[in-house]
Amino acid sequence: MQRAKITIIGAGNVGATCAHWMASKELGDLVLVDIVEGLPQGKALDLYEAAPIEDYDVRLTGSNDYEATADSDVVVITSGLPRKPGMSRDQLLETNVKIVAEVTARAVEKSPEAILIVVSNPLDAMVFTAHQISGFPTARIVGQAGVLDSARFRAFIADEVGCSVEDVQTMLLGGHGDDMVPLPRYTTVSGIPVAQLISSGKLEQLVTRTRNGGAEIVNLLKTGSAYYAPAAATAAMVESIIRDKRRVLPCAAYCNKEYGVGGYFVGVPCILGRNGVEKVVEVELDEREREMFDASVAHVKELCAAARKFLPK
Ligand code: NAI
Ligand code: 2OP
Repeated sequence: MQRAKITIIGAGNVGATCAHWMASKELGDLVLVDIVEGLPQGKALDLYEAAPIEDYDVRLTGSNDYEATADSDVVVITSGLPRKPGMSRDQLLETNVKIVAEVTARAVEKSPEAILIVVSNPLDAMVFTAHQISGFPTARIVGQAGVLDSARFRAFIADEVGCSVEDVQTMLLGGHGDDMVPLPRYTTVSGIPVAQLISSGKLEQLVTRTRNGGAEIVNLLKTGSAYYAPAAATAAMVESIIRDKRRVLPCAAYCNKEYGVGGYFVGVPCILGRNGVEKVVEVELDEREREMFDASVAHVKELCAAARKFLPK
């Protein structure tokens, strides 16, 4: 069987750490691309030199152009500015629309059949940008946010219950902003509804901490944003696609009739497999969850309208 080929655009913190997790899972041959000369080449070589020690058998290439990326199965877009303390993800909009538009155009020219996974922020507007520029079928464009946000929620719950993170399952909807919608009602610890284990007041605090999870790390790091968990989340999505695992993961996927969204990429549970988003899974929402979801989707729509102004003519 031919090995999968995965391109990662942006060899900064998230991109290089994606390469690290993906190499260690042997998901395929990896190509790192960046505009900074030497950076993707150096990181790819460094990771390749770790292969004999860590025992992974993949080829790693670094490049400043897109020739090396040709015929990738998956293209992960991480290029763009990260936020600094005090900044919201939305403040990155203008710069990152331009970067994501440029790299999408160049990547899809070389890999017209690829599945695009967008990571750059503000996430929901960047997925929209990648769709506008690539013109790809919507099933082949997906954004990473929910796997990270729900992992944060799972970690905080495991900490509170004093149990293994492995046993915590949760779901989360909406955009990758402070108005994301973690769903305690769909959260269990080994099948036990979380409300039987954690008080509602405490759960509310954990929801708030999850919503601010990105800012919590930015405030600690001071010079950039999170990358270990974001990259692990992205690698999990790539694995589900490359190995056709059909995992049910919260991702920014295209919803038209689904959830009544009307043609935008927003965070929803979906089945990820060899064809990209195989299916958006619709769950029942109560009145309060629906209100929060609608508010989050309204924000995503505003962001996309703002992003549209910066798209190349
Ligand atoms: P970073 O600054 O470490 O890396 C970004 C890289 O992109 C740099 O190496 C830079 O040279 C490169 N780059 C810029 N313009 C480029 C272009 N035109 N072509 C190729 N490469 C280019 O930033 P980091 O921490 O890796 O974050 C990357 C992005 O991911 C940010 O927008 C950040 O906000 C976002 N992010 C999103 C998350 C999510 O859950 N969706 C989680 C964490 C970060
Ligand atoms: C995060 O949530 C920066 O969006 C990124 O950590």
